[in-house]
Amino acid sequence: MEQVIKHIESNYDLYINELKDFLRIPSISTLPENKPDMQRAAEFVSDKLKKAGLNKIKIFQTEGHPIVYAEWLGAPGKPTVLVYGHYDVQPVDPIELWHNDPFDPVIKDGKIYARGATDDKGQVYVHIKSVEAFFKTMGHLPLNVKFLIEGEEEIGSEHLTPFLKQNTDLLKCDAVLISDTALFSPGTPTITYGLRGLAYMEVEVTGPNRDLHSGTFGGAVDNPINILAEIISKLKNKDGKITITGFYDDVLKLSKKERENFKALKFKEKDFAKSIGLKELKGEKGYSTLERIWARPTLDCNGIFGGWTGKGAKTVLPSKATAKISMRLVPHQEPKKIAKLFEKHIKKLAPKTVKVEVKDLHGGYPVITPLDAAATIAASKAMAKAFGKKTVFMREGGSIPIVVEFANRLNASPVLMGLGLNTENLHSPNEHFDLNHFKLGIKSSAYFFEEFSR
Ligand code: BES
Ligand code: MN
Ligand code: MN
Repeated sequence: MEQVIKHIESNYDLYINELKDFLRIPSISTLPENKPDMQRAAEFVSDKLKKAGLNKIKIFQTEGHPIVYAEWLGAPGKPTVLVYGHYDVQPVDPIELWHNDPFDPVIKDGKIYARGATDDKGQVYVHIKSVEAFFKTMGHLPLNVKFLIEGEEEIGSEHLTPFLKQNTDLLKCDAVLISDTALFSPGTPTITYGLRGLAYMEVEVTGPNRDLHSGTFGGAVDNPINILAEIISKLKNKDGKITITGFYDDVLKLSKKERENFKALKFKEKDFAKSIGLKELKGEKGYSTLERIWARPTLDCNGIFGGWTGKGAKTVLPSKATAKISMRLVPHQEPKKIAKLFEKHIKKLAPKTVKVEVKDLHGGYPVITPLDAAATIAASKAMAKAFGKKTVFMREGGSIPIVVEFANRLNASPVLMGLGLNTENLHSPNEHFDLNHFKLGIKSSAYFFEEFSR
């Protein structure tokens, strides 16, 4: 094991250069013009997996973006780990706020700046290099490993879900290792054991059959923007509780133990507020900030448009107004059921003066992973060893909808060994990844393979 760790240390600069090449590929899954880059990114991953020493490498084409698979099953009798991650990234806008070209990585103060650096290319690359270090030094791995790296995580894993269903034998494993979440704080080894789910809705309010002169018609008709604003304002009460009938019915309550565990984490609400430029935080009454983010469902407007939004003034009453509204869900809420309750509630709130259309854009299940699973314990030990500190356990407000499918379809325990930071601007301008965590991550991964093989 010592050799493996030494090898990682002495090849570290090389790894960073390779990661830079990975980050240069603009693999934005949502934009049709980047379709060829998706193939290039998939080929990059499969090429590096091959060079690392894995065999049976395959790029599965789908109706969407390719899925990369690789395996090495040379340790009969030993457990099998499936490493999951994604090579797709989010769009870059607003581009003018970036300090460098998002696809021309720059290193500053020990951090690498590029789209996808922390979400999720940097974190995926960690495991490719740890596997490589074993092959280069020992000639083999201590257990069996499979890789499943997809290109549609940021757009809902549409084609990975049926792929899992159709390939349960191929993907059979004892644990799924995922690095696509965050450390609790810099340098703190962290296992995430809960992710929120999602129901993402669009509400379109239509009033008059066309835009109207706001002088000749103003005062005589209901304005769709005003109506939409009224509807939105009624979705939560003064205490920050969501008013949708039945919304909380299936919510898993926070246990006393869990609340105590959250409280024991060093989290300063003041610093958190300051880091995002706020004087004061706000949320559901009766819960701390961590509880609100990690273990309570929420409802938020993500975007709203209608009427005149260009420069200057135009006197107009809009025919339509639209809002994008997301709800983050917690176990055991069901995205489809919540979407239906939402639609029913919106229709009830709308006056007869307008027509309302509600669309269910996409969703994902929340998940809680068992803390006593062998893989979780091994990962916690491995991270502690690499970081030289005790591992902490947290939940997460974000979502990775495919995780629940791993638990259900493959009957394997997912382990969220995240290495990013929530301050690393994922999905925002100037996304970056702390290279110290990149290095500690490669070691954590190597220690995990060793630990879990026992
Ligand atoms: N890696 C993130 C999930 C995440 C976010 C983990 C923040 C830890 C902290 C993932 O790539 C992501 O962005 N998920 C989306 C899912 C959605 C597109 C279905 C999310 O949470 O919005
Ligand atoms: Mn991600
Ligand atoms: Mn993401």
